Amino acid sequence: MTSHSNLNARSKAVLITGAAGGIGLALVSACLQHGWYVFANVRNQASWRSLQSTLEKQCSDSSQYCQPLVYDVTEPEKVKGAFNEIRKSGKQLQGLVNNAGVMQDSALGMTSLSDFTQQMTVNVTASFQHMQLAARLMTRQKSGSIVNVSSIVALDGSAGQVAYATSKAALLGMTKSAAKELAPSGISVNAVAPGFIDTKMTATYQDQKREKVLAQIALGHEGKPSDVSALVLHLLSTEAAYITGQTIKVDGMMKLN
Ligand code: NAI
Repeated sequence: MTSHSNLNARSKAVLITGAAGGIGLALVSACLQHGWYVFANVRNQASWRSLQSTLEKQCSDSSQYCQPLVYDVTEPEKVKGAFNEIRKSGKQLQGLVNNAGVMQDSALGMTSLSDFTQQMTVNVTASFQHMQLAARLMTRQKSGSIVNVSSIVALDGSAGQVAYATSKAALLGMTKSAAKELAPSGISVNAVAPGFIDTKMTATYQDQKREKVLAQIALGHEGKPSDVSALVLHLLSTEAAYITGQTIKVDGMMKLN
């Protein structure tokens, strides 16, 4: 894929973390179909092969514009290496989507400090480092858009998800502060807050547990990854340049108990 000719035809690039997950794949696919050159962060070669074959089926015309960056987002040196690769590619990094994330359901009393730290490291620290490195590149070109994938639990709270909700709420403070700091450089920073989206992350919610969640959604059904990617795609676009520092829900009007 990456060795195909004519890759220079697309100079506007976006980095999407967690690209092989449910929402990640929808993001990659939407960005490719809308003219972006995509740097897709995946954790290993097997994930890349699976993403690659799905993209070839879904968007054969544009799948050649997707380049894998294989690393764990929690390894700071690897993250720096990935940004060096982006810089050397000659592409203009116009977008960053901090999408990689982990969620562990557990009651406050049962959550170990290491589980808490792991969610904070992936969901917060890694997003911070990506935002910092992306902002350096975007500041030079005086344009760019950053989208952080938070969650409605950050806004409403969720019993059994204190650690996860803490991490997703931290992303909102990061989003608003960075939006203020980077506005003079023409960079927008926003967050999206999905509700209950049908991906691997929510696959453990079955039967009664799932019914209980669906009953809290006004639209009565879960969201699709493409519901989230459509919103992110808009926030990445130049048409959305006047939107910054916002958290936008995509949740079918979900009211958490
Ligand atoms: P998913 O489990 O399908 O995808 C998550 C992706 O993140 C996976 O590809 C995984 O490999 C990657 N990832 C995790 N840790 C990583 C690491 N250390 N380095 C590199 N990649 C790593 O889940 P989904 O639903 O697609 O989640 C995407 C984002 O959306 C996450 O940030 C999640 O918290 C958020 N979200 C999801 C909701 C849902 O209902 N599915 C609701 C609200 C937010």
